[in-house]
This record gives sequence, structure tokens and C-alpha cells, in this order.
Amino acid sequence: MENVRTENKDGVLVVTIDRPKSLNALNAQTVDELRQAFETARDDASVKAVIVTGGGEKAFVAGADINELARMTPVTGKEVAQSGQRVFRLIERFPKPVIAAINGFALGGGCELALACHIRIASEKAQLGLPEVSLGIIPGYGGTQRLARLLGKGRALELILTGDRIGASEAERIGLVNKMVPPDQLLPAAEEMARKIMTRGPLAVRAAIEAVMSGSDMAFEEGQLLEATLFGLLASTEDMKEGMGAFLEKRTASFQNK
Ligand code: COA
Repeated sequence: MENVRTENKDGVLVVTIDRPKSLNALNAQTVDELRQAFETARDDASVKAVIVTGGGEKAFVAGADINELARMTPVTGKEVAQSGQRVFRLIERFPKPVIAAINGFALGGGCELALACHIRIASEKAQLGLPEVSLGIIPGYGGTQRLARLLGKGRALELILTGDRIGASEAERIGLVNKMVPPDQLLPAAEEMARKIMTRGPLAVRAAIEAVMSGSDMAFEEGQLLEATLFGLLASTEDMKEGMGAFLEKRTASFQNK
């Protein structure tokens, strides 16, 4: 892969989008490499959690590649949006936790990528926004849907219609990112959160992601049914016996992903 680097740090896969000369803009090749990275990580039992970040000092991802977008037709434009949507859906539905470590500009497709991750941590230097309307288009990688679900329609429309960039502290205030940390603490903070989640029951973590991410697209009663089904399913796991046994025996649980 040319534009996406992966490094497995003892179970935490760091996926770095690395086209710093273009501020890590997502061209078609980079979107496809992201797909490859996540498909490989999904099937790799040694990967327990994923951190997504940007290469270089300045950007997480400064958006879809405007050089490519400028040439799109109605037909290729729809294809571009749908191929990005498929990859971001893969990330959103990923069975292991995915944390965005937002190190700089997260604009347009970069903000949408962060929105597809399960948890977002931002450096104090990060700037986020959806500037598409300034280019005469709208967010096309799921941003109109995910932002409104995360922040509510009012805040989502303010960001999407003005195209304004906001800093990390404002993003934290409105709930666009989970927390803000100093730049040198970004990857350590993301890794610390990943490792904390990795001590929990992995099948329970997987079920929780599915309940929240799939459930939020359903009617409330259907979401509750999904929750109850997954809750019941976990009763069949050795990990449930281990987790409850460890509590009752006052020891630390040792989960086997079974
Ligand atoms: N697509 C393609 N190239 C991009 C890009 C994008 N989304 N964002 C930045 N780049 C390129 C610039 O064209 C420039 O290339 P060059 O050195 O060959 O001229 C390089 O990255 C550095 O960007 P530059 O604009 O010089 O940096 P800056 O610090 O002055 O500004 C931004 C940074 C992020 C504010 C600015 O690059 C920007 O507004 N980018 C577009 C953001 C956007 O609209 N994204 C949504 C796309 S749908």
C-alpha cells in the first residue's frame, strides 16, 4: 500500500493515512487502501483494536481529493460517494473498537472518516469541519447522516451549511469529539483507551458496538430487540462465565474471546 501504513503494536493496529503533501486527502486509491487495511484487520485475530490517524504534523485528513472531485460527472460522483460510504460503513460496523486520533485538519471526508469511527480523540491543534458547500457540493461519505445523529439536526446543519471549521475545544464542547488532549498525548491517549477496552470481554465489546451502531439505525423497539438478542447470546459464552466468576472470586478476569 502506498498511502496507508499499518503497524500492529501488540494488538493495537495503528492505521496511518499518509499523503502529507496533499494533507492526507482521500483519493480513490487511498479509500481503497483503507478498505484493504480494515478487511485485513477484521480477519486478523492478532488485531484487537484499531487507531486511525494522519501522517505528518498538519492533518488528520483534509478531505476527499479535490483534484479528483473536480473531474466528476453525475455518474462517477455517485460512484465516488457510494464507494466511500461502503468503506466508512465497514469502519462503523467494525467488530473491534476503532478510535480516531485526530491530529490536525479533519475536514470534509476527513471529518466523515472520524465520524465513522467509534470514538474520537482530538489533539488541541485539530480543526474539524464540513466545508463541502463552499465547493458547491455536500458531504458524500455519510456525513449528513452521521453528524445529525451524533449532534442533532440543529448543530449538524449549522456546521454543514456554514462550512465553518471549529477547533478541538469547541468540538469537545458540542460532543463532536470525545475528548481533547495535548498533541504529544494524542497517540498515547488513544492507545490507553484501546488497551483499556482490550481488557474487557471481547465478545461483549463486539456485541456492544453492534447494538449501538446498528441499533441507532433502527426503530427503538427493533433496537431493543437487537439488544436483548445480543444480551441473551452472550450468556452462551465462556467469557460471560469468566467475567462473572472473576467478580465473585474477587480476581481479574482473563477473557479468551470464546
Ligand atoms: N484535496 C486535494 N489537495 C488538497 C486538499 C484536498 N482536500 N487539501 C489540501 N490539499 C493540498 C493543497 O492543494 C496543497 O497542495 P500544493 O502544495 O500542491 O499546492 C497542499 O495540500 C497543502 O495545502 P495548503 O492549502 O497549501 O495548506 P494550508 O495550510 O494553507 O491550508 C487547509 C490547509 C486544510 C485549510 C486547506 O488545504 C484546505 O482548505 N483544503 C481543502 C479542505 C476541503 O475543502 N476539504 C473538503 C473536500 S470535499
